[in-house]
Amino acid sequence: MKTVVITGGTSGIGQVLVEYFAKNNWEVIFTGRNAESAGRILDSLSDCKLRFFETDFASFEHVVKTADEIVAQYPVIDVLINNAGVWEMQFKETTDGIETNFAVNHLSPMLFTLKLLPRINPESGRILNTSSGAHRRNILDLADPEWRQKAYDGIATYSQSKLCNILFTNRLARDLSNSRILVNTVHPGLVKTNLFNKMGERNWSNVPNAWDGARSAIFAATDNAVVNRSNLYIYQERLDPNITELAKDRQVADSVWELSMGYIQKYLAG
Ligand SMILES: NC(=O)c1ccc[n+]([C@@H]2O[C@H](COP(=O)([O-])OP(=O)(O)OC[C@H]3O[C@@H](n4cnc5c(N)ncnc54)[C@H](OP(=O)(O)O)[C@@H]3O)[C@@H](O)[C@H]2O)c1
Repeated sequence: MKTVVITGGTSGIGQVLVEYFAKNNWEVIFTGRNAESAGRILDSLSDCKLRFFETDFASFEHVVKTADEIVAQYPVIDVLINNAGVWEMQFKETTDGIETNFAVNHLSPMLFTLKLLPRINPESGRILNTSSGAHRRNILDLADPEWRQKAYDGIATYSQSKLCNILFTNRLARDLSNSRILVNTVHPGLVKTNLFNKMGERNWSNVPNAWDGARSAIFAATDNAVVNRSNLYIYQERLDPNITELAKDRQVADSVWELSMGYIQKYLAG
Protein backbone atom coordinates (compact mmCIF):
# COMPACT_ATOMS: atom_id res chain seq x y z
CA MET A 1 0.00 0.00 0.00
CA LYS A 2 1.42 3.39 -1.00
CA THR A 3 1.24 6.43 1.26
CA VAL A 4 0.26 9.93 0.15
CA VAL A 5 0.32 13.14 2.18
CA ILE A 6 -2.17 15.77 0.97
CA THR A 7 -2.26 19.27 2.46
CA GLY A 8 -5.54 21.17 2.47
CA GLY A 9 -7.60 18.00 2.18
CA THR A 10 -10.69 19.43 3.86
CA SER A 11 -12.29 21.07 0.84
CA GLY A 12 -12.11 21.63 -2.90
CA ILE A 13 -9.40 19.92 -4.91
CA GLY A 14 -7.67 18.52 -1.82
CA GLN A 15 -10.83 16.79 -0.64
CA VAL A 16 -11.27 15.18 -4.05
CA LEU A 17 -7.66 13.99 -3.89
CA VAL A 18 -8.19 12.53 -0.42
CA GLU A 19 -11.27 10.65 -1.64
CA TYR A 20 -9.60 9.48 -4.85
CA PHE A 21 -6.46 8.09 -3.25
CA ALA A 22 -8.31 6.55 -0.27
CA LYS A 23 -10.76 4.73 -2.56
CA ASN A 24 -7.86 3.55 -4.73
CA ASN A 25 -6.26 1.78 -1.80
CA TRP A 26 -3.62 4.30 -0.80
CA GLU A 27 -2.93 5.16 2.80
CA VAL A 28 -3.87 8.84 3.01
CA ILE A 29 -2.56 11.41 5.46
CA PHE A 30 -4.28 14.77 5.06
CA THR A 31 -4.06 18.15 6.74
CA GLY A 32 -6.40 21.10 7.11
CA ARG A 33 -7.72 23.56 9.66
CA ASN A 34 -11.30 22.41 9.67
CA ALA A 35 -11.67 19.43 12.03
CA GLU A 36 -15.42 19.27 11.41
CA SER A 37 -15.02 18.82 7.65
CA ALA A 38 -12.23 16.36 8.29
CA GLY A 39 -14.52 14.38 10.60
CA ARG A 40 -17.16 14.11 7.89
CA ILE A 41 -14.54 12.96 5.36
CA LEU A 42 -13.18 10.36 7.81
CA ASP A 43 -16.72 9.09 8.47
CA SER A 44 -17.54 8.80 4.78
CA LEU A 45 -14.35 6.81 4.14
CA SER A 46 -14.43 4.66 7.25
CA ASP A 47 -13.36 1.56 5.26
CA CYS A 48 -10.20 3.28 4.06
CA LYS A 49 -6.84 3.88 5.67
CA LEU A 50 -6.64 7.59 6.35
CA ARG A 51 -5.57 9.99 9.03
CA PHE A 52 -6.13 13.69 9.61
CA PHE A 53 -3.68 16.15 11.15
CA GLU A 54 -5.26 19.47 12.12
CA THR A 55 -2.73 22.04 10.91
CA ASP A 56 -2.88 25.77 10.33
CA PHE A 57 -0.40 26.74 7.62
CA ALA A 58 -0.59 30.29 8.96
CA SER A 59 1.64 29.10 11.82
CA PHE A 60 5.15 27.71 11.26
CA GLU A 61 4.92 26.04 14.66
CA HIS A 62 1.82 24.13 13.54
CA VAL A 63 3.53 23.11 10.31
CA VAL A 64 6.59 21.85 12.16
CA LYS A 65 4.51 19.98 14.76
CA THR A 66 2.54 18.10 12.10
CA ALA A 67 5.63 17.40 10.01
CA ASP A 68 7.48 16.06 13.06
CA GLU A 69 4.54 13.80 13.96
CA ILE A 70 4.35 12.43 10.42
CA VAL A 71 8.12 11.85 10.33
CA ALA A 72 7.93 10.01 13.67
CA GLN A 73 5.01 7.80 12.66
CA TYR A 74 5.42 7.08 8.95
CA PRO A 75 8.67 5.55 7.67
CA VAL A 76 7.95 6.11 3.95
CA ILE A 77 5.92 8.70 2.08
CA ASP A 78 5.47 7.84 -1.58
CA VAL A 79 3.79 11.07 -2.68
CA LEU A 80 3.52 14.50 -1.08
CA ILE A 81 0.90 16.80 -2.62
CA ASN A 82 1.30 20.40 -1.48
CA ASN A 83 -2.22 21.57 -2.23
CA ALA A 84 -3.33 23.82 0.65
CA GLY A 85 -3.77 27.39 -0.46
CA VAL A 86 -5.59 30.58 0.29
CA TRP A 87 -6.44 33.76 -1.60
CA GLU A 88 -6.62 36.77 0.71
CA MET A 89 -7.69 40.03 -0.92
CA GLN A 90 -6.93 42.21 2.13
CA PHE A 91 -3.60 42.47 3.94
CA LYS A 92 -3.54 39.95 6.75
CA GLU A 93 -0.67 38.64 8.85
CA THR A 94 -0.15 35.05 9.91
CA THR A 95 0.59 34.05 13.50
CA ASP A 96 4.23 34.60 12.61
CA GLY A 97 3.52 38.15 11.44
CA ILE A 98 4.01 37.43 7.72
CA GLU A 99 1.72 38.42 4.85
CA THR A 100 -0.72 35.53 4.50
CA ASN A 101 -0.71 34.67 0.78
CA PHE A 102 3.12 34.50 0.77
CA ALA A 103 3.32 32.51 4.01
CA VAL A 104 0.46 30.02 3.59
CA ASN A 105 0.91 29.38 -0.14
CA HIS A 106 4.70 29.36 -0.38
CA LEU A 107 6.71 29.51 2.87
CA SER A 108 4.72 26.91 4.83
CA PRO A 109 4.61 24.33 1.99
CA MET A 110 8.37 24.81 1.56
CA LEU A 111 8.96 24.29 5.30
CA PHE A 112 6.60 21.28 5.36
CA THR A 113 8.33 19.69 2.36
CA LEU A 114 11.84 20.15 3.70
CA LYS A 115 10.79 18.68 7.06
CA LEU A 116 9.24 15.62 5.37
CA LEU A 117 12.11 15.11 2.91
CA PRO A 118 13.87 12.39 4.96
CA ARG A 119 10.70 10.27 4.66
CA ILE A 120 10.06 10.68 0.92
CA ASN A 121 10.56 7.31 -0.75
CA PRO A 122 14.17 7.46 -2.05
CA GLU A 123 13.42 4.94 -4.82
CA SER A 124 10.32 6.46 -6.38
CA GLY A 125 9.01 9.36 -4.26
CA ARG A 126 7.14 12.27 -5.80
CA ILE A 127 6.69 15.80 -4.54
CA LEU A 128 3.97 17.91 -6.19
CA ASN A 129 3.59 21.64 -5.71
CA THR A 130 0.27 23.20 -6.71
CA SER A 131 0.69 26.40 -8.69
CA SER A 132 -1.71 28.22 -10.96
CA GLY A 133 -2.02 29.99 -14.28
CA ALA A 134 -1.83 33.09 -12.05
CA HIS A 135 1.96 32.65 -12.05
CA ARG A 136 1.84 34.01 -15.61
CA ARG A 137 1.34 37.51 -14.22
CA ASN A 138 5.11 37.30 -13.55
CA ILE A 139 4.84 39.18 -10.28
CA LEU A 140 7.83 38.93 -7.96
CA ASP A 141 9.15 41.57 -5.61
CA LEU A 142 12.17 40.20 -3.80
CA ALA A 143 12.72 43.48 -1.97
CA ASP A 144 9.17 43.68 -0.65
CA PRO A 145 7.62 40.20 -0.93
CA GLU A 146 4.97 40.99 1.70
CA TRP A 147 3.69 44.17 0.02
CA ARG A 148 4.48 46.32 3.05
CA GLN A 149 6.00 49.24 1.17
CA LYS A 150 3.26 49.63 -1.42
CA ALA A 151 -0.53 49.54 -1.64
CA TYR A 152 -1.69 46.03 -0.85
CA ASP A 153 -2.84 44.00 -3.86
CA GLY A 154 -4.24 40.53 -3.12
CA ILE A 155 -4.15 39.52 -6.79
CA ALA A 156 -0.45 40.37 -6.90
CA THR A 157 0.48 38.58 -3.66
CA TYR A 158 -1.50 35.46 -4.64
CA SER A 159 0.08 35.45 -8.11
CA GLN A 160 3.55 35.91 -6.62
CA SER A 161 2.97 32.99 -4.24
CA LYS A 162 1.95 30.76 -7.17
CA LEU A 163 5.09 31.79 -9.09
CA CYS A 164 7.11 30.94 -5.98
CA ASN A 165 5.56 27.44 -6.02
CA ILE A 166 7.14 26.81 -9.44
CA LEU A 167 10.45 28.42 -8.47
CA PHE A 168 10.53 26.19 -5.38
CA THR A 169 10.00 23.15 -7.63
CA ASN A 170 12.73 24.46 -9.93
CA ARG A 171 15.32 24.66 -7.12
CA LEU A 172 14.32 21.54 -5.16
CA ALA A 173 14.34 19.47 -8.36
CA ARG A 174 17.96 20.52 -8.91
CA ASP A 175 18.92 19.80 -5.31
CA LEU A 176 17.44 16.29 -5.65
CA SER A 177 18.72 15.63 -9.17
CA ASN A 178 21.07 12.89 -7.96
CA SER A 179 18.18 11.08 -6.28
CA ARG A 180 15.23 9.16 -7.70
CA ILE A 181 12.70 11.54 -6.18
CA LEU A 182 10.65 13.53 -8.72
CA VAL A 183 9.64 17.11 -7.93
CA ASN A 184 7.01 18.63 -10.20
CA THR A 185 4.43 21.40 -10.39
CA VAL A 186 0.76 20.88 -11.11
CA HIS A 187 -1.84 23.45 -11.95
CA PRO A 188 -5.52 22.66 -11.70
CA GLY A 189 -6.97 25.18 -14.17
CA LEU A 190 -9.93 27.30 -13.10
CA VAL A 191 -12.36 25.20 -11.06
CA LYS A 192 -15.18 26.15 -8.72
CA THR A 193 -14.02 25.93 -5.10
CA ASN A 194 -13.99 27.95 -1.87
CA LEU A 195 -10.72 29.56 -2.95
CA PHE A 196 -12.63 32.46 -4.48
CA ASN A 197 -14.91 33.08 -1.48
CA LYS A 198 -13.33 36.45 -0.70
CA MET A 199 -13.41 37.70 -4.27
CA GLY A 200 -17.04 38.71 -4.61
CA GLU A 201 -19.54 37.57 -7.23
CA ARG A 202 -18.26 35.67 -10.25
CA ASN A 203 -19.94 33.96 -13.17
CA TRP A 204 -19.47 30.24 -12.55
CA SER A 205 -21.38 28.95 -15.55
CA ASN A 206 -19.29 26.49 -17.56
CA VAL A 207 -16.58 26.41 -14.87
CA PRO A 208 -15.89 22.79 -13.88
CA ASN A 209 -15.88 21.53 -10.32
CA ALA A 210 -13.03 20.40 -8.08
CA TRP A 211 -12.91 16.92 -9.67
CA ASP A 212 -11.59 18.51 -12.84
CA GLY A 213 -8.96 20.40 -10.87
CA ALA A 214 -7.76 17.22 -9.17
CA ARG A 215 -6.89 15.54 -12.48
CA SER A 216 -3.47 17.21 -12.71
CA ALA A 217 -2.27 15.96 -9.33
CA ILE A 218 -3.71 12.47 -9.87
CA PHE A 219 -1.84 12.23 -13.17
CA ALA A 220 1.37 13.70 -11.75
CA ALA A 221 1.24 11.30 -8.81
CA THR A 222 0.51 8.12 -10.74
CA ASP A 223 1.61 8.32 -14.38
CA ASN A 224 4.89 6.60 -15.27
CA ALA A 225 5.16 7.34 -18.98
CA VAL A 226 4.95 11.12 -19.23
CA VAL A 227 5.87 11.94 -15.66
CA ASN A 228 9.34 10.45 -15.54
CA ARG A 229 11.51 13.45 -14.73
CA SER A 230 11.52 16.52 -12.53
CA ASN A 231 10.67 20.20 -12.92
CA LEU A 232 7.68 19.54 -15.17
CA TYR A 233 4.62 21.80 -15.28
CA ILE A 234 1.60 19.54 -15.48
CA TYR A 235 -1.98 20.32 -16.40
CA GLN A 236 -4.54 17.52 -16.43
CA GLU A 237 -2.96 14.57 -18.26
CA ARG A 238 -0.21 16.43 -20.09
CA LEU A 239 2.80 18.71 -19.84
CA ASP A 240 1.76 22.33 -20.18
CA PRO A 241 4.10 24.57 -22.18
CA ASN A 242 2.43 27.72 -20.80
CA ILE A 243 5.01 28.36 -18.13
CA THR A 244 6.77 31.73 -18.13
CA GLU A 245 10.50 32.34 -18.62
CA LEU A 246 10.64 33.89 -15.15
CA ALA A 247 9.27 30.68 -13.61
CA LYS A 248 12.00 28.71 -15.40
CA ASP A 249 14.82 31.03 -14.31
CA ARG A 250 17.35 29.21 -12.11
CA GLN A 251 18.92 32.33 -10.64
CA VAL A 252 15.53 33.72 -9.68
CA ALA A 253 14.66 30.34 -8.13
CA ASP A 254 17.88 30.51 -6.11
CA SER A 255 17.07 34.06 -4.97
CA VAL A 256 13.57 33.03 -3.87
CA TRP A 257 15.08 30.04 -2.05
CA GLU A 258 17.54 32.28 -0.16
CA LEU A 259 14.81 34.79 0.69
CA SER A 260 12.50 32.04 1.91
CA MET A 261 15.23 30.40 3.98
CA GLY A 262 15.55 33.70 5.82
CA TYR A 263 11.99 33.15 7.06
CA ILE A 264 12.01 29.40 7.73
CA GLN A 265 15.60 28.39 8.47
CA LYS A 266 15.21 28.44 12.25
CA TYR A 267 12.20 26.11 12.03
CA LEU A 268 14.20 23.56 10.02
CA ALA A 269 16.72 22.95 12.76
CA GLY A 270 16.11 20.12 15.19
N1 LIG B 1 -9.75 26.52 -7.72
C1 LIG B 1 -9.00 26.96 -8.70
O1 LIG B 1 -9.52 27.42 -9.75
C2 LIG B 1 -7.51 26.93 -8.60
C3 LIG B 1 -6.76 27.36 -9.71
C4 LIG B 1 -5.38 27.33 -9.62
C5 LIG B 1 -4.77 26.88 -8.48
N2 LIG B 1 -5.51 26.48 -7.42
C6 LIG B 1 -4.79 26.00 -6.23
O2 LIG B 1 -5.35 24.76 -5.81
C7 LIG B 1 -5.12 24.57 -4.41
C8 LIG B 1 -6.39 24.09 -3.73
O3 LIG B 1 -7.34 25.13 -3.73
P1 LIG B 1 -8.91 24.90 -3.92
O4 LIG B 1 -9.28 25.59 -5.17
O5 LIG B 1 -9.24 23.49 -3.72
O6 LIG B 1 -9.45 25.83 -2.73
P2 LIG B 1 -10.25 25.50 -1.38
O7 LIG B 1 -11.48 24.74 -1.67
O8 LIG B 1 -10.38 26.81 -0.70
O9 LIG B 1 -9.27 24.55 -0.59
C9 LIG B 1 -8.10 25.06 -0.01
C10 LIG B 1 -7.59 24.11 1.02
O10 LIG B 1 -6.44 24.71 1.64
C11 LIG B 1 -6.68 24.77 3.02
N3 LIG B 1 -6.14 25.97 3.66
C12 LIG B 1 -6.41 27.26 3.40
N4 LIG B 1 -5.77 28.07 4.27
C13 LIG B 1 -5.13 27.25 5.12
C14 LIG B 1 -4.31 27.46 6.26
N5 LIG B 1 -4.05 28.67 6.74
N6 LIG B 1 -3.82 26.39 6.90
C15 LIG B 1 -4.10 25.15 6.47
N7 LIG B 1 -4.86 24.86 5.41
C16 LIG B 1 -5.37 25.92 4.75
C17 LIG B 1 -8.19 24.79 3.19
O11 LIG B 1 -8.50 24.35 4.48
P3 LIG B 1 -9.78 24.89 5.30
O12 LIG B 1 -10.81 23.88 5.05
O13 LIG B 1 -9.30 24.93 6.67
O14 LIG B 1 -10.11 26.26 4.74
C18 LIG B 1 -8.61 23.82 2.10
O15 LIG B 1 -8.49 22.50 2.54
C19 LIG B 1 -4.58 25.91 -3.90
O16 LIG B 1 -3.18 25.80 -3.76
C20 LIG B 1 -4.91 26.88 -5.00
O17 LIG B 1 -4.02 27.98 -5.07
C21 LIG B 1 -6.87 26.48 -7.46
